[in-house]
Order: sequence, then structure tokens, then C-alpha cells
Amino acid sequence: MTLEGRRVVVTGASSGLGAGTVRLLASRGAHVLAVARRADRLQALAAELAGAAGRVVPFRADVTSDADATAMVAAAVDALGGIDVLVNDAGSEVQGPIDALPQEAFEGMFRANALSVFLCTRAALGELRRSRGMVVNLGSTVVARPPRGRFGYVAAKGAVEAMSRALAVDLGRDGIRVNCIRPGIVPSELRGLTEQEERERFETGMHLGRQALSEVGDARDVAEAIAWLAGDGGRWVTGVIIDVDGGFSLGVSDPNPRTS
Ligand SMILES: NC(=O)c1ccc[n+]([C@@H]2O[C@H](COP(=O)([O-])OP(=O)(O)OC[C@H]3O[C@@H](n4cnc5c(N)ncnc54)[C@H](OP(=O)(O)O)[C@@H]3O)[C@@H](O)[C@H]2O)c1
Repeated sequence: MTLEGRRVVVTGASSGLGAGTVRLLASRGAHVLAVARRADRLQALAAELAGAAGRVVPFRADVTSDADATAMVAAAVDALGGIDVLVNDAGSEVQGPIDALPQEAFEGMFRANALSVFLCTRAALGELRRSRGMVVNLGSTVVARPPRGRFGYVAAKGAVEAMSRALAVDLGRDGIRVNCIRPGIVPSELRGLTEQEERERFETGMHLGRQALSEVGDARDVAEAIAWLAGDGGRWVTGVIIDVDGGFSLGVSDPNPRTS
């Protein structure tokens, strides 16, 4: 499926699922504004993808700032000529049960995961109306199946999911589609470990026992779903929550996933 010429903004592009999404979309011909705070990482990603079918333009922004969200949209217009697709991938997590979670950590998760969706989508509305474009928000499968000790993150991602459905209703008459992907547990830096450490947790069965499928998912699995929504196949799809999670949301619990 080609995404040739699609103009895409991906927040959270400096690592993990966001970087994987930039890689896949650019390889299919989309022109991408890659957004995050760590400019060095964005530069490295753009350099890595210099030979891709689509162009990758790095842009430093904090998505919890209204001024930065506005500047991000201006940069997309300047560099890409507009916006067809906005991928709200930026997010963060601090784990802990309610009595061990400082208020700043709770608020920080709502700012990075939920307020960012509000600010970036609002800033991009004019461009999305012009292009009759699409928004993809990154939720999480933990909303369907909350693990212990992650309630602040589950709450923030629940808000992302609710906003996706409400925005799909509000913006549908403008021809703007809004959808939400709920990834399962994918090795990344999100939980404060390195990707390698996270992979090792899968290998010891800590994560895998909670999935239906035996394979560890990766950023590309999530990016493929975003690419489908961003392409012609998703033309009539709005307001949906898509689990891309190896069956995590089914509630499997195997103590020895490698042998069962
Ligand atoms: N990996 C999983 O298992 C999983 C599962 C379900 C959902 N998700 C969701 O998928 C998304 C990507 O997570 P990931 O796993 O790829 O984690 P990650 O590697 O930690 O990536 C998070 C990204 O968000 C960016 N970010 C955070 N706060 C930001 C801010 N204020 N302004 C701009 N950018 C900001 C980070 O960039 P900078 O630090 O450079 O700004 C980074 O690029 C998140 O929304 C996450 O909640 C992940």
C-alpha cells in the first residue's frame, strides 16, 4: 500500500513506536514531520531515512505546550505544504498505585498523554479541515485490562480513548476521521528500561504469559495499523479503537508461556 505524497505529523518520533511509524510511513512514500523534544534523536532518524521514498523533517517541540503545538503545525505547512494525517504518539508513564503516585506524576501523565492530544489536534484543525484529514491517537490495551500499579497511566489513556470517540463525532462533518490504536506491551523505553531489558522480560515470560500470541510485538506491528488507517483502506473508518496487542486484551494468563 502506497502512502505517496501523504503529509504526516508524528509526535513522539524520537524513539519506540513513533520512530517506527516514521520509518514505515516514509518507506511507503509519506512525507513526515518527526516531532519530539530530543532533537539529536530526530536528526539521527532523519539522517537514517535520507534515502527513503518520502521526506523526513525533524522538528523539536514539547507537545504539552500550546505555543509548541502551534509552531509544529506552522513547520508542517512550511516543510510539507499542509497536514493530511496527525499521529499523536507522544506519551509517558510513571508506575505506582494511587498512594505511591505523587500528584506531579499523575498530572505529568495527563499532560503528556492526554493534554497533548487536545493541543496538537486543536492546532492542526485548520489544516485537517482543508485536507479532510485524519488523526490517530495512541491509547493502550491496558485500558481494557488494567495491570496492578499503573492506574494513573490507565486513566490518562482512558481519556485518550474517550477523546478519540468524541472527536470523531465532532469532526466527522468536516470529513476528519479520528481513530485510536491500543498497542499491547511492545519493548520500548516507555517504562524506564532499555528496549533490550524489556525484550529480556518477554523472554523470561513476564509479559508473554499475558498474550494470546507467542510473538513479541514491535513498533512495526503498530505502525502497520497506522499506515492502514492513513491510507485509502481507512477511508470510511472513524471513531474506532483498534487493539494491536497480540491478544493481550483477551485476558490470557499462562505461568509458563514457552511450554503451554
Ligand atoms: N511500548 C508499549 O508497550 C506501549 C503500549 C501501549 C501504548 N504505548 C503508547 O505508545 C506511545 C509511544 O510509546 P513508546 O513505547 O514508543 O515509548 P517511548 O520510546 O518512551 O516514546 C515516547 C515518545 O514520546 C515523546 N514525548 C514524551 N513526552 C513528550 C513531550 N512532552 N513532548 C514531545 N514529545 C514527548 C518522547 O520523546 P522526547 O523524550 O524526545 O520528547 C518519545 O519520542 C505512547 O503514547 C505510549 O503511551 C506504548
